[in-house]
Amino acid sequence: PTVEQVVRKIAAAHREQRGALLPILHAVQAELGHVPKEAVPVLADELNLSRADVHGVVSFYHDFRAEPAGHRTVRVCRAEACQAQGAGYLVEYVRQMGLTLGGTAEDGSVTVEQVFCLGNCALGPAVEVDGRLHGRVDTERLGALLHGTDQ
Ligand code: FES
Repeated sequence: PTVEQVVRKIAAAHREQRGALLPILHAVQAELGHVPKEAVPVLADELNLSRADVHGVVSFYHDFRAEPAGHRTVRVCRAEACQAQGAGYLVEYVRQMGLTLGGTAEDGSVTVEQVFCLGNCALGPAVEVDGRLHGRVDTERLGALLHGTDQ
């Protein structure tokens, strides 16, 4: 099915719901792994909203991604305890690698996200790779995690 068909089908299932846009966006992302640009005009049409309105919601909520996620997802904790243990260096390192928080590497290998507490505060800085926690991560280790050579 095309993106349009998928989106119309999901929209049809939620249309009667009040504030349908958010649940629809979550369902689209669950189905397609991201909310593609082509979904925006279709949703605007289905829900009788402007494209700008739909786009605004998609970009406001960091849960939604416009591009498919990378092969691996690396989440760097930036909450207080990790920050105090040097998470800032990790964020800086991510940028030096030419990656952005919330972005995906051009080759699609990795998506980097920031999170606020992974429940591993005593062993910060904490980084989670595809659901697996790593503690006391330094920049060298992070490099390996980003490259997928430390799994
Ligand atoms: Fe980073 Fe809790 S503050 S794991």
